[in-house]
Amino acid sequence: MDIEFVAAGAALSSKTALGRIVHEGAALDGAAAQAAAASRFTGAKGQTLDVLAPAGTDAARLVLVGVGKAEAADALAIENAAASAYAAVKASGLTTLRLELPDASAEFAARAALGVRLASYRFDKYRTKEPAEKKPSVVKTEIVATDNAAALKAFEPLAALADAVSFTRDLVSEPPNVLYPAEFAARVKALEALGLEVEILGEAEMMKLGMGSLLGVGQGSIRESQLAVLKWYGAADKSAQPIAFIGKGVCFDTGGISLKPAENMEDMKWDMGGAGAVAGLMHVLAGRKAKVNAIGILGLVENMPDGNAQRPGDVVTSMSGQTIEIINTDAEGRLVLADAVWYCQDRFKPKFMVDLATLTGAIIIALGNDYAGCYANDDTLGANLMAASAASGEPLWRMPLPPQYDKALDSMIADMKNTGGRPGGSITAAMFIQRFTNGVPWAHLDIASTAWKKPSSVPTIPDGATGFGVRLLNQMVADRYES
Ligand code: BES
Ligand code: MN
Ligand code: ZN
Repeated sequence: MDIEFVAAGAALSSKTALGRIVHEGAALDGAAAQAAAASRFTGAKGQTLDVLAPAGTDAARLVLVGVGKAEAADALAIENAAASAYAAVKASGLTTLRLELPDASAEFAARAALGVRLASYRFDKYRTKEPAEKKPSVVKTEIVATDNAAALKAFEPLAALADAVSFTRDLVSEPPNVLYPAEFAARVKALEALGLEVEILGEAEMMKLGMGSLLGVGQGSIRESQLAVLKWYGAADKSAQPIAFIGKGVCFDTGGISLKPAENMEDMKWDMGGAGAVAGLMHVLAGRKAKVNAIGILGLVENMPDGNAQRPGDVVTSMSGQTIEIINTDAEGRLVLADAVWYCQDRFKPKFMVDLATLTGAIIIALGNDYAGCYANDDTLGANLMAASAASGEPLWRMPLPPQYDKALDSMIADMKNTGGRPGGSITAAMFIQRFTNGVPWAHLDIASTAWKKPSSVPTIPDGATGFGVRLLNQMVADRYES
C-alpha cells in the first residue's frame, strides 16, 4: 500500500474513492447529506455508508465512516475508521482511496495511515489462480492533512510498526512445510539488515548448554531445533541492563506421542505465534531505532511423533538443573520456554523478561478470542503491560499466579511434571514457566486466544494471523523503557 499525505482540495483522479470519517451528529453537506438522509447513517461508531457516483465531486465513489461522538473519537478510533473505509472500497475496482478526517492533525493523519496499512495486509503468495477482479484494487491511499511534512514525520515510527506486524503475520501465515525451525531462524537472521545482531544456536550448542527440556520436544522431528538470539542495543549506554522477550516457536505442534485429534490440527502451524511476535517486536525496535537495549529469544522446534520422539513418562533435565517428568508430550511449549527463559536470565541478566506463547487451549476457554492472558510476578511490569494494552488496542486480561496451585505440578519421581491437569490449565502452565525465572521480574502472555482470528472483528486485522503482541510490546517499550 502506497501512502501519501496531501492537502485538502488536492486534485483527484477519476479512479479515486473518497473516504470521509465523520463524528456522530456532525453536519454533512451535498451528496453526503443526501445519502445520510436516505439511510440510518448518523456517524455512530462502526457505521459505513457507500455512495456511488456522488454529485458535486470528482470522486467515483464516496464512503462515509462513523467514528462516534467527537469526544470519544481518539487516535485508535480514527485508525479503525480508516481501516473500515479501506475495507469498504478495497475491491471496488478503483485504485485510490482519498481519506478525509474530522481533524486533519498530523497525529490523526498518521494513525489513519497505520490503520490502512494494517488493514491492507494480505498473504497471497500461494494463490496462483485468483482472478484479477477478486484481488484488492486500491493500491494507494492519500490522507488529507494540514501539515504534510508533520504527518509524514509522525507516520515514520508507525510505518516501522506496520512493517513489523506484516513480518510477524507472514511468519505466522506460512505453512509448516515451509517455515520449519531452520527457515524461521534464517528469516530472523536476515533482520541483521535492520541493524540487529542475530545469533543462531543449533542442537549441538544447546546440548552443550544442557537444554534437555527444549531438545526433548524437537527429538521426534527430522528438522533441527534452533534457538535464535536477537540483540538490539539502541540505548545511549550500550552496557545498560537490557529488557528481554522470549517466544514459543513451535513451528508445528502435532502433540507428539500424545497426538492431537485430526480436526483443526492444521491450526497448529501458528503455534509459533509467540516467537513470531518477539521477532516482530525486535523488527520494529530496530526499524524505528528505539533507544533501548533489548534481547529477543526464540525457541524454535517442531513437535512430531516418531520412533525417536519423547514419550509420556520420560524424565528430562533442563538447563536450570531441574528435572521434569513428561506426562503429556502435547504440553510442549512450556518445555521449550523452560530452557529459553533460563538461558535468557543466565546469559543476559535482564531487567525483566516477558514471554509470549500460544500456550494453552485453556486460555481460550477462560477468555474467548479477544483477550490474551497476562501473568506477572512483578506488579510494575504487570501494570505497564496493562497500560500498553489499553493504549495499543491489543486486549489483555490479568490472570493470577496463586502459590497454592503450584503443587499441581509436583511429580512422584522428578522435580516437577509438565502438566497440572485441566483445572486452571493456563494458570498452572504459567506457573511451570515461573519455576525457570530464577527470581527475575517476569510476565507471561498466553496468546493462544489471540494469535489467529477467524473471523476477525477488528478492522485493522484481516482474517488469519493477527501479529498480536507486536503493537502492545512496542507501546510498552516506547512509553516506559526508552531513555
Ligand atoms: N499449542 C497448544 C495450545 C493451543 C491450543 C494453542 C489451541 C492454540 C490453539 C499447546 O501446546 C497444547 O497442546 N496445550 C495443551 C496442554 C495440555 C496437554 C496440558 C492444551 O491446551 O490442551
Ligand atoms: Mn501442544
Ligand atoms: Zn503447542
